[in-house]
Amino acid sequence: MQINLTLNDTSQSWDIPVNETLLDALRRHGVFGVKQGCQTGECGACTVLLDDVPLTSCTMLAAQADGHRVTTVEALGEHPEQGWKHTEGLHPLQQAFIEIGAIQCGYCTPAQLLAAEALLRENPNPSEAEVRQALSGVLCRCSGYVRPVEAVLRAAARLRGEEPPPVIGRLEPPVNVMPLPPTPPQSAEPPVEAGPGPHTQVKVDLPKLVVAPAGETRHVGVSEPKVDAVKLAQGKPAFVADVEMRGMLIGKILHSPIAHGYIKHIDISKARALPGVHAVLTYQDVPRVIFSTAGQSHPIPSPLDFVSLDRKMHFVGDRVAAVAAETEEIAQRALGLIEVEFEELPAVLDPRDSMAPGAPVIHDEGDYVPFAECDPKRNLAAHIHMELGNVDEALKTADYVFEGEYEVPRVQQTPIEPFVCITYWDEDDRLVFRTSTQVPFHARRILAPVLGLPIKRIRVIKPRIGGGFGNKQEVMIEDICAHLTIVTKRPVKLEYTREEQFMASTSRHPMIIKMRTGVMKDGRMVANEMRVLSDTGAFGNHALTVNGNTGHKAMSLYPANKGADGQSNLRFVAEVVYTNKPTSGAYRGYGVPQGFFPVESQMERIARALGLDPLQFRLMNVVQAGEEHPMSKVFSEGREARGELIRTNAIVECARLGAELIGWEKGKQGDKETGRQGNKADLSTCLPVNLSTLRQGKGVALVMQGTAIPNLDMGAASIKMNDDGSFNLLVGATDLGTGSDTVLTQMAAEVLGCPPDDFITYSSDTDFTPFDVGAYASSTTYISGAAVVEAARKVAEQIKAVAGRMLDVPPDEIELAERQALALDGRSVTLAEVALDSLHRSGQHQIMAVGSYVSPDSPPPFGAQFADVTVDIGTGQVTVNKLVMVLDCGMIVNPAAAVGQIEGGMTQALGYAVCEEMLFDEHGRMVNPRFGDYRIFAADEMPEMQVRFVQTYEPTHPFGVKAVAEIPLDGVGPAVANAVYDATGVSPSVLPLTPERVWRALRDGK
Ligand code: FES
Ligand code: FES
Repeated sequence: MQINLTLNDTSQSWDIPVNETLLDALRRHGVFGVKQGCQTGECGACTVLLDDVPLTSCTMLAAQADGHRVTTVEALGEHPEQGWKHTEGLHPLQQAFIEIGAIQCGYCTPAQLLAAEALLRENPNPSEAEVRQALSGVLCRCSGYVRPVEAVLRAAARLRGEEPPPVIGRLEPPVNVMPLPPTPPQSAEPPVEAGPGPHTQVKVDLPKLVVAPAGETRHVGVSEPKVDAVKLAQGKPAFVADVEMRGMLIGKILHSPIAHGYIKHIDISKARALPGVHAVLTYQDVPRVIFSTAGQSHPIPSPLDFVSLDRKMHFVGDRVAAVAAETEEIAQRALGLIEVEFEELPAVLDPRDSMAPGAPVIHDEGDYVPFAECDPKRNLAAHIHMELGNVDEALKTADYVFEGEYEVPRVQQTPIEPFVCITYWDEDDRLVFRTSTQVPFHARRILAPVLGLPIKRIRVIKPRIGGGFGNKQEVMIEDICAHLTIVTKRPVKLEYTREEQFMASTSRHPMIIKMRTGVMKDGRMVANEMRVLSDTGAFGNHALTVNGNTGHKAMSLYPANKGADGQSNLRFVAEVVYTNKPTSGAYRGYGVPQGFFPVESQMERIARALGLDPLQFRLMNVVQAGEEHPMSKVFSEGREARGELIRTNAIVECARLGAELIGWEKGKQGDKETGRQGNKADLSTCLPVNLSTLRQGKGVALVMQGTAIPNLDMGAASIKMNDDGSFNLLVGATDLGTGSDTVLTQMAAEVLGCPPDDFITYSSDTDFTPFDVGAYASSTTYISGAAVVEAARKVAEQIKAVAGRMLDVPPDEIELAERQALALDGRSVTLAEVALDSLHRSGQHQIMAVGSYVSPDSPPPFGAQFADVTVDIGTGQVTVNKLVMVLDCGMIVNPAAAVGQIEGGMTQALGYAVCEEMLFDEHGRMVNPRFGDYRIFAADEMPEMQVRFVQTYEPTHPFGVKAVAEIPLDGVGPAVANAVYDATGVSPSVLPLTPERVWRALRDGK
């Protein structure tokens, strides 16, 4: 049918199918600023203005736009300089989003901008609540909404002619000024032997806080705008799906409706015969190559238990068949024409049943390749045992032994951009992947044998990614997309729906955790034991490493070394079992949030039982700078553990500052004003007899993470100088919305004495950018950053050599600053002159260099997480009023980006604490696979959040940095649970704290 509409002030006449949505029609006409994240009207990514009113374009037909005005982000504003043509520039909203650091992955940004534009046109002076209300229809998984809300208020002020407040500039200097340590020790001393098990008694006298060496940095430590922010604010076609290719087919997957069984018979003839269908693939059509989807270094520390298409079904959502067709509609119809008969087997849906005698064996395939201590015959994907000291003996001698059992749920990463991949053969018969991945280099290596291609005939391009959070540290759909291209010779696009994203991608490992902790009467911890039953679901990708991390990091915060011999007595045992549920995998925090819920709940219970202040009790037992990282001696992700020294640790300062910000001392136990119950277990004191049912409480959790995987994670970068003195910075590191391209550029800019604006930064393309393991383990700023600094230093040397020749001074007397090479006598040449000279005039050569880096260290960032909650003891409703997090993440390269990371991370963790949970029926089918039922926080539901950094200077990095990205996931769950304990006297054992669960716990008194 024909429709006429006004699109961004231009008249359009479109010929459309009657059932086409406005979203699809817009994208088919090249309007890629409109994104899809669910197609069910629940995420808001597809928001447009229809006659100035924000609407989701996925839930309306294009036909309904006939005769109307449609506005998309493309109409808002554009880059001010278009060659010789000047434009009006960006809209104040776009400018404010860029300035304030409101854009992370940028996938939701066009929709947020349009929602805000509609608000400001109606209401030029909105309150914060009104802004939050206006943005509430657009879900953002990255930001925590603080910065987008601030950006809208800022733009509103500017549109009213007012001057908005300045953006976050440099952070406060470190709280404690101390000299740098003379020479940091490079390796820990050998342990002192005493009884069974390894011990950690290594202590080196180091100051806890170390300030940066003298000398102001110009670009590191400054809230520079993100290097990709301008294009993202304009909704430019930067993401995987934002391209059109001639002849591109649409791929679709038929998923298993049963949790466990075999394909008895499959008939694809009707599907193949459907006009427009180009391929239908089953296990009979694709070579069987066993692999692991885990995007990790070689050799992958997971069992090889996965094939592209199998006869066996392992969970509801497993792959039955794949089709490629001319359109999505035809592909969908083809799926419906595939006839399958299954032979169903009993399923294992509860991890407690997985290893029971006689349990159905989920992986009985003959080509299964085990890794480390796994045993598929017993449904055991990984067994982990870490032990330090003599736990049993220490528990015997402890004054008290506290036991507890805890449970954490299966939750989904839910990046707003689902999995999406495009594959095609290029002119050299090389297979190209344009894909939303965190691990392009690992993906290339993993895919090669699966597709029967050498690595050199595969190219993986990672454009902008609409969020990942570990979900995309996986080869999830690329193999199927490639099989379809191989068989059809055509470009193929495969994109998950939101339901597929929930049911057929990965999630966080759910765990059942038992703790035993030995303490002395005065609060000294002498032993700690954690035993975990973890559910890896249908496949064992990341089984060893995620769960190893649970013990490695969460148990190391309290070394339990306060006994007479000073030895750590720690034990961590995990059984990671297969079930017929969707597969678990990497999720931001990588096993550590699961560990800190029991550890920090246990700490709270012990402190209150001993009558100690929970914060003081923690600080009495926490690991210190100068100590060896306890578990680093016994675990290193399937590699040899070498032991690492903790050189910087400001957790005490973080705790003190956080306590001040949350008002820790105000209204302690039994306070009449707040109703804080403290350790009173008697709930009768707060039963609603003519009293409010609302009780307020405060909780704390101390946390630590890691920074990269030591002796394994490697990053590389190359820098090339151009004729005008600008640079190309190519990094294999994968910016998935975290801002890593920006912070890497800032480091290069610092070394080369020019603004970040002088860099064209590109990540990542396996053909052009150097190798990098990718975005995980919070490694990029530390590992890839050190590689960038190395490359930049080499380039700086070359620049100084040319400048020295031009100025006739020794190169070591040249400084680089303000885009110039400066001699001691005040003479200078610009970088542009250096570039011209080296490329065109004398001693001609290309100034460029490569740097690469791998670290023996993984310096832990530390944090103190606080929560203030109100509990309605009548309904069990937990309302989180405020979250405060104070962190030691080393030196902060970009404060605005770092704060945004922490706010976004805390918001994800808040969902883990109070509402997010994947729920399944008795057949193993997920019952809430959409945003309407699986609730993630919206802008108008957020508590107040405060983030502060206590900067330390980590001496193992050129700019003193440690990791930022994952640590905010670790503490919110336990801090909120401990606040509920504080409010009600009942300590929750199971997350999330839904009203029903809390109400039952209050009723049962536990
Ligand atoms: S794609 Fe339209 S609301 Fe999610
Ligand atoms: S910035 Fe909002 S979803 Fe990523």
